[in-house]
Amino acid sequence: MAGLWNNRTVETNDDPAIGGDKVRLRRVTEDDAELLELWHSTEYVGEFNDFGVQLGPVRGRIQKTGLVSAQSGTLIVELETTRKPIGTVGWREVRYGPNPESVAWNIGINLIPEARGHGYGSEAQHVLADHLFATSRVNRIEAMTDIDNLAEQRALENAGFAREGVLRGAQYRHGGWHDLVVYSCLRRLR
Ligand SMILES: CC(C)(COP(=O)(O)OP(=O)(O)OC[C@H]1O[C@@H](n2cnc3c(N)ncnc32)[C@H](O)[C@@H]1OP(=O)(O)O)[C@@H](O)C(=O)NCCC(=O)NCCS
Repeated sequence: MAGLWNNRTVETNDDPAIGGDKVRLRRVTEDDAELLELWHSTEYVGEFNDFGVQLGPVRGRIQKTGLVSAQSGTLIVELETTRKPIGTVGWREVRYGPNPESVAWNIGINLIPEARGHGYGSEAQHVLADHLFATSRVNRIEAMTDIDNLAEQRALENAGFAREGVLRGAQYRHGGWHDLVVYSCLRRLR
């Protein structure tokens, strides 16, 4: 994954997939375009990720960037054994100051309904966090989730994230404002 991390590059890796025990993370290809559009529908996205926002045509963006840039990225989560795609993980840059040292990653995940509850979400986020620490210089990786999303809160804890606090009324979905729980992991605690 050469050159994806801009001046935050530490090390590059030509292996197209990042492996865990049950799941692996791989780059998005053009063949995934229809799947990504399907997964964005209400039926697949789940109540906590349903913002009523259209995805728009994704094929062109895949052709252009592979959905990875210096500031953000999306990878496909697939089963290690069968290579069946079961969802996506993503990350985006958040800044806590104007200098490069104050950049952190904010990560997110969405698994298709039938893949939930098998430990895949915990492992995928663990693997992603390890990968982001290994391939960039950030000190902090964070994630935020709805205060009622207990599965994601447990998954993040399983992935080595610690609960930091609550952002009140931060997210608007389904006609109302929702509190978000903030989680993070720091490089020195990994
Ligand atoms: C949230 C999500 C990533 C979790 O991944 P997952 O593979 O389903 O979760 P895991 O199987 O790894 O389980 C994580 C933990 O949550 C627990 N859990 C699962 N569903 C739960 C629920 N409805 N209520 C409480 N705990 C739950 C599991 O028991 C497990 O805890 P344990 O390790 O103590 O046994 C996945 O369900 C998903 O993609 N959901 C839809 C999208 C979403 O909510 N994304 C996050 C938005 S910020």
